[in-house]
Amino acid sequence: MSLLAFCEWLAATEGSIALHESMYMYPIVESTHVLALMLFVGFATLLDLRLLGLTLKRVPVSQVAERLLPWTIAGFVVMVVTGVLLFYAIPIRTYQSIFFRAKVIFLILAGLNVWLFHSRIFTRIAEWDHDIITPRAARRAGLASLVLWGAIIVAGRMIAYNWFDCDIQPQPAFVNWAAGCVVPTVTP
Ligand code: HEM
Repeated sequence: MSLLAFCEWLAATEGSIALHESMYMYPIVESTHVLALMLFVGFATLLDLRLLGLTLKRVPVSQVAERLLPWTIAGFVVMVVTGVLLFYAIPIRTYQSIFFRAKVIFLILAGLNVWLFHSRIFTRIAEWDHDIITPRAARRAGLASLVLWGAIIVAGRMIAYNWFDCDIQPQPAFVNWAAGCVVPTVTP
């Protein structure tokens, strides 16, 4: 079964139709997706700014991480759960959205950056915990995080715009390829 066929199956399920057509549930889920940004991206940004030596300069990095990470993780879980529900409500259009596809690529890169930071750089925190200017690798991780989460937010916001939707043809060949549009070939 192709991913598109899976999305078509998902879109025909009672739950997807009910969420998509709901008067209040969909706006509540989407508002929660946006509100959780405060917790997740807000706290992640504070740690990134500390890694860049731009704020909380006199607070050891380990203390910033220890206090902010539980809230950041809670916000991330809410973002993912509400995000999956938003996808579930409109699976075909979202799957064929170039903005959603870009967002997924950025999410994977952001996840890789988090993993590399915690598995490689943060393990040596004792060597640089009190430094105002942290090691280059830590500053790079902080900057990459800020850029990637910013890109994820912009891509997420753009999903609502239908400029490049598959059902608005003709689209440039690159858009049809990137979005996975199935465009019927017209035989003369
Ligand atoms: C974890 C990090 C995430 C962040 C920071 C994030 C951020 C955002 C933002 C800012 C929006 C725009 C909301 C609006 O203005 O209406 C959005 C929309 C959306 N997000 Fe996420 N998101 C995340 C994860 C996910 C995940 C994991 C999924 C699905 C698997 C997802 C699916 C969606 C969908 C489908 C929309 C479009 C909703 C609409 O316009 O109707 N998001 N996201």
